[in-house]
Parts: sequence; structure tokens; C-alpha cells
Amino acid sequence: MVFAQVSDLHLDGSERAAERTRRVIDYVNALELDAVLVTGDLADHGRPEEYAELTVALKSPHPMMLLPGNHDRREAYREGLLGEPADGGPINVVQRVGDVNFLLADSTIPGRSNGFLAEETLAWVDSTLAADAASPAFVCFHHPPVALHSPLVDVIRLDNAARLAEVLGGHRNVVAVLCGHAHTAATSTFAGVPLLVAPGVVSTLTLPAEPRPDVDLDLPPALYLHVLDDERRLTTHCRVVVQDAPRTLTP
Ligand SMILES: [Fe+2]
Ligand SMILES: [Fe+2]
Repeated sequence: MVFAQVSDLHLDGSERAAERTRRVIDYVNALELDAVLVTGDLADHGRPEEYAELTVALKSPHPMMLLPGNHDRREAYREGLLGEPADGGPINVVQRVGDVNFLLADSTIPGRSNGFLAEETLAWVDSTLAADAASPAFVCFHHPPVALHSPLVDVIRLDNAARLAEVLGGHRNVVAVLCGHAHTAATSTFAGVPLLVAPGVVSTLTLPAEPRPDVDLDLPPALYLHVLDDERRLTTHCRVVVQDAPRTLTP
């Protein structure tokens, strides 16, 4: 199976964010994919009008799998994207694509930038993985559970990563953990499985070693293409989506 991972659209009504999202979604919509995963910070302020914008911007022939980030608001997200009554509890959804389960978990703390998996969410991850132990599963949420060596995001990563590692340690069907939030394509490991942090659509975070702004607005948006093979090995390709240059025909 092949699926795309896109993250951190931060749609806010501006043409800049809309254009970058359009560029990336147009790119993935033209591919032969099994699904598209969007790992949070869909809206920039969590306003109802931003979710109205998202319902149009995320139209796709592929199954879409969404989860909230710290810039989203649970109530408006539920009403605007899920068509559910506004409720402030964690948004945890399992979506099946082929024979693979995607656990889309809510790592947000209302009003805060850092992340935390509520006991309710950890119990849901545990029971959902156990309920279908024969099927491969991806555990997806917004906040990376490890330090990425960026001073900006390391202080707002997932606070209770050790508890999640405990839960994941009890299961053998987790293929990988997929996150967003950091606006940089980064790979690491967590709880004995690969950890993939998706690049951001709206901006790119740089390392102190790079002579660029901490949050670079000029680097183009990027996305991941994940391939899961029959041996349950995950291979990930990164695509940078540059704007098409106007073509001039030479006479
Ligand atoms: Fe973000
Ligand atoms: Fe975030």
C-alpha cells in the first residue's frame, strides 16, 4: 500500500497558506494512492471559517485521514470536519485502509502548544491495537515523542512519551509512529519502531547549524510517500513540491 502524509497546513484565510496547501493536495490527488494522512495543525486558529476552508481544500479522490494539532480547536474541528456536535474531549479515530489500521490519536492540550496523550487516549490506543492484533497498524498523532534537536520544538513535544512507549511495548503490530508539528522532515525511532515526522506545508523549521531563519518561509512545501510492503517493511520517500515555473516556448 502507498499513502501520502501531509502536515501542518495552518490554513488561516491567507492566500499564502491556501496556495501551498493547494500545491501539495493537487500533487497527491494526481497520484495513485490508497490514502492521504494529514497530521494536524490543519487550521491556524481553529476558527469555524478555517474548517469551512479546509472542507474545500482537502477534497480528494483518496480516503482522507485527519487528526488535530495544537492550532486546531476540538469543538470547531468536530463540527466543521466531522459533522459532529461540538465537544471538547479528545478526538480519537481509527480508520482502516485495506488490511491496515490507522490510529488517529489526539495529542493536544486545549490552549497549549505542547502535547500530552490523556489516559483515555492511551487506553484507546491500547485496546484498539489489541482488538486487531493480526493487522499492521500505524499510530499517528501530532506531537513528536522524542527530541529533534531543535530548540523551538523540543520544548513543545509530547510530554508523556514514556507512558506511550509502555503501551506500544505491549503490542507487536505497530509498523511505525507518524507525527507532524515540527515542520521538518525528520526520522528517528520510538518504542522500537520507526518514527517519521512529516515536513510542514506552511513553513520549514531549520536546525541551529543551518544559516537560515529558525522558521523558513521560503523553502517549498514537502510531503512523504509511505510504502508498506508485504513483509510489513515501511519505506518512505520525501517529495518537495516546487511551484511550476511559467514555461516560455522558444520560437
Ligand atoms: Fe504546525
Ligand atoms: Fe503543531
